[in-house]
Amino acid sequence: MAFPENFITELAERNDIVDVVSSYVRLGKKSGSNLFGLCPFHGEKTPSFSVSADKQIYHCFGCGKGGGVINFVMEIENLSFPEAVEFLAKRAGMAIPEQAADKDAKKRSRLLDANRDAARFFHEQLGTEAGKAAVEYMQRRRISPKIARNFGLGYAPDSWDSLIRALRDKGYTDYELLDAGLVKRGKNGGFYDMFRNRLMFPVIDVRGNVIGFSGRILGEGEPKYLNTPETLVFNKSRNLFALNLAKKSKNGYIILSEGNIDVVSLHQAGFDSAVASLGTSLTPEQARIISRYTNEVIIAYDSDNAGVKAAQRAISILEKLDLKVKVLKMQDAKDPDEYIKLKGPDAFRNLIEASEHQIDYRLGQITAKYDLSSDEQKVEFLKEASELVAKFPGSVERQVYAMRVAQMASVDARLVQDEVERRRKKLYSQARRTVNRENARPEQSIQPGERRLRYEDPSSAMAEEGLIRLLYLDGALAKGKELPKPEDFSSQALGHIYSAIAARLGSGASMSTAVLSESLTNDEMGLLVSVLQKPEDLKNGERSIRDYIEKIKQRNELKSDSTDLRALANKLRETKKYEG
Ligand code: UTP
Ligand code: MN
Repeated sequence: MAFPENFITELAERNDIVDVVSSYVRLGKKSGSNLFGLCPFHGEKTPSFSVSADKQIYHCFGCGKGGGVINFVMEIENLSFPEAVEFLAKRAGMAIPEQAADKDAKKRSRLLDANRDAARFFHEQLGTEAGKAAVEYMQRRRISPKIARNFGLGYAPDSWDSLIRALRDKGYTDYELLDAGLVKRGKNGGFYDMFRNRLMFPVIDVRGNVIGFSGRILGEGEPKYLNTPETLVFNKSRNLFALNLAKKSKNGYIILSEGNIDVVSLHQAGFDSAVASLGTSLTPEQARIISRYTNEVIIAYDSDNAGVKAAQRAISILEKLDLKVKVLKMQDAKDPDEYIKLKGPDAFRNLIEASEHQIDYRLGQITAKYDLSSDEQKVEFLKEASELVAKFPGSVERQVYAMRVAQMASVDARLVQDEVERRRKKLYSQARRTVNRENARPEQSIQPGERRLRYEDPSSAMAEEGLIRLLYLDGALAKGKELPKPEDFSSQALGHIYSAIAARLGSGASMSTAVLSESLTNDEMGLLVSVLQKPEDLKNGERSIRDYIEKIKQRNELKSDSTDLRALANKLRETKKYEG
């Protein structure tokens, strides 16, 4: 998928990061050449997301995400690198160099075709002798033939190779089917069908492509569901089951449930805006996708403990996106499917109407704690309620709920509003102080926000960061120095970033986040950008770079010394054994 480098560089130049980010994030507050706003990638009430116009990068002090304009588009639009490039090229009116676009797009479209043909094959099985078991199972679960058709449900026969044979006939290679997650490879090197004797639910993206499958066992047994693994076209944390149908609903809200069967059952009962996450708990990416189609979500999870816990997690994820969240309270049934079968669609509609707004729900919980006829308790109530309202990100929301709280306590609305804003300012300055404190203690704050990237040896990591920063900012500093090898780095992520940068030094190629994006993961880009954000004195670059290199080498010498010592000790022990 390699794009020519000058194309990527021009693409980044023609998509100013401030313009691009501004269409998603309101950037206000300026500090130096940085603009600040609320981070779109994690929930926050005070801005820690910054965009630098001169460096053309973004960085969030809160969640550690960062990168250039391409990374931003990848993150916010859920796109792969080539897709983000395509997106930005379109935005800037640039044509994609043919070769690059062709190769990647061809592979993707091949996998999508294979999935589509597989879905057809599974669906056709319902009309055959072999498919009878699945048809009977659907009857038992009261899934109508019509809804089965709408969802494109199907049956994977009880055979090791029926799909593989059908798709080979259509011209797919075994490796293509492997890449599509439709077949698996056995120990002896042979290929066999991934889904066997299962009711098949195709997963269809919002553009109408079949990207993968969920296969349910017919009846009892383990595993209950099998899902397509990650492929070039299928990522289960970035897709939702039935969103392709739900996006067309006129409901104005999305119903979020847990199970595929629940979704099918809900649609059949007329609730055509139901979706489910694909066997994972709701992810922030999925929430962001939902927020493109609606501003209200009704959570209809299972009523067991796990469902209640999952609902709480989902609430906090959805609320961060300013979505209106309601929770459905189901009694006498374990899930929406059972509820509808037991009580009918009208009863379910009543549940939807009775579902409580999350804010009212929490305000209700606070109110219940106090006796508002006592002045003393009223004061406590006002404090706690104002604290809650102060955390709402929208100012209209804060005003409305401040008024509500005032009414409840029969006090002047102005009073509560002032209290709320005062508390909000306090929250803001608290957050500010934390950030400043962390910046003032580099040893403490050096750890990357992303847990996966944690530094093993922070003091060496500081030198590694420094070396990366200097080489990025001024490649000429490398001249005449014996640079460490990427393996010498204590942090693997930094080592990888370093090798991407070092590879460009020799060739005299230009350095920018845009060109590095292609060889680094999004996590690594975020780390690189946070490294670049830290202050560095280029005037004393020569001296600093020597110090950094020295420090990295020292650590490695120490390390190899200690391995030598260990080896020596072992040897001594061995000889002792023989002597003694
Ligand atoms: P459930 O066990 O609730 O399944 O899992 P369900 O779809 O409601 O089916 P019934 O009504 O019990 O027959 C909820 C979802 O979790 C994922 C599937 O996406 C399923 O729809 N899941 C469950 C898996 O991915 N793997 C499993 O083994 C089980
Ligand atoms: Mn279920």
